[in-house]
Amino acid sequence: MSWGPFSLEGKRAVVTGGARGIGFGIARRFVEAGADVVIADLDGELAEKKAVSLAGPGEAVGMAADVTDAGSGEAMVARATDAFGSVDILVNNAGIYPQVPMLDMTVDLWDRVQNINLKGLAFVSKAFAAAMVAQGTGGKIVNIASIDGLHPSMVGLAAYDASKGGVVMFTRNLALELGPHNINVNAIAPGGISTEGTAAPLEGSGMTEAEMEAMMQQFTARIPMGRMGDPDDIAKTAVFLASSAADYMTGEIMVVDGGMLLS
Ligand SMILES: NC(=O)c1ccc[n+]([C@@H]2O[C@H](COP(=O)([O-])OP(=O)(O)OC[C@H]3O[C@@H](n4cnc5c(N)ncnc54)[C@H](O)[C@@H]3O)[C@@H](O)[C@H]2O)c1
Repeated sequence: MSWGPFSLEGKRAVVTGGARGIGFGIARRFVEAGADVVIADLDGELAEKKAVSLAGPGEAVGMAADVTDAGSGEAMVARATDAFGSVDILVNNAGIYPQVPMLDMTVDLWDRVQNINLKGLAFVSKAFAAAMVAQGTGGKIVNIASIDGLHPSMVGLAAYDASKGGVVMFTRNLALELGPHNINVNAIAPGGISTEGTAAPLEGSGMTEAEMEAMMQQFTARIPMGRMGDPDDIAKTAVFLASSAADYMTGEIMVVDGGMLLS
């Protein structure tokens, strides 16, 4: 299959949180579009297993990485450079979304959400931007934000929404800074996407499985397209933003939500 301007042939990418869910969907499409991919995940064993499961034309390797660790971005750059020779694309996908009302929020949980979703993303971006500037060949950074960074979707996500609102503005400002280096920085704001994460009982919410199912039904009823999204809905948009098709786009937030923000 010819990917035309969407081809990622000859490109080297890192996807954080790429062992499952949206991240794995992105890694799979990237490899299909010709990119060599490092799947970097907290669960290094799963990252390696999933990397092996991907059929070319691109290659994939896995590594253990915690985006909150100082130096994790540099370690990802080193892994990509060792395995493939350079790095051209970063997808900041690792994120958590505990649903806990602010009245029950602890400082520890608040910090964990901000550290993974915003601070981790920022400093991993810094490491990749430095490597891309040094390479002098430009690059693409794709941040996975959320519609919740633009409009709150439900009660219990105040910490999450604050982190994703931060991702939206970080994306715009970093685009301003890195434009002169031919590095595009864009974000995708997914709506409700069915993943292992959204299927798991919501941590700390105190909800039973039946209550959670009722909540999911109510949520789906608000989506004009009548269904939850699939990781591949986000993966195909990520291929676009990582490809030369998006060469003149930067600082943009692409909403991929089946129309939910309209309802
Ligand atoms: N699923 C949705 O409905 C939805 C909607 C909007 C935005 N998002 C965003 O998309 C991203 C992925 O969501 P998902 O539903 O696929 O999640 P998921 O829970 O299914 O998968 C997340 C992956 O990230 C990894 N991870 C978690 N913390 C990490 C860390 N500190 N360092 C490295 N890896 C880490 C996990 O091990 C896991 O493999 C998140 O940023 C999330 O906020 C998801």
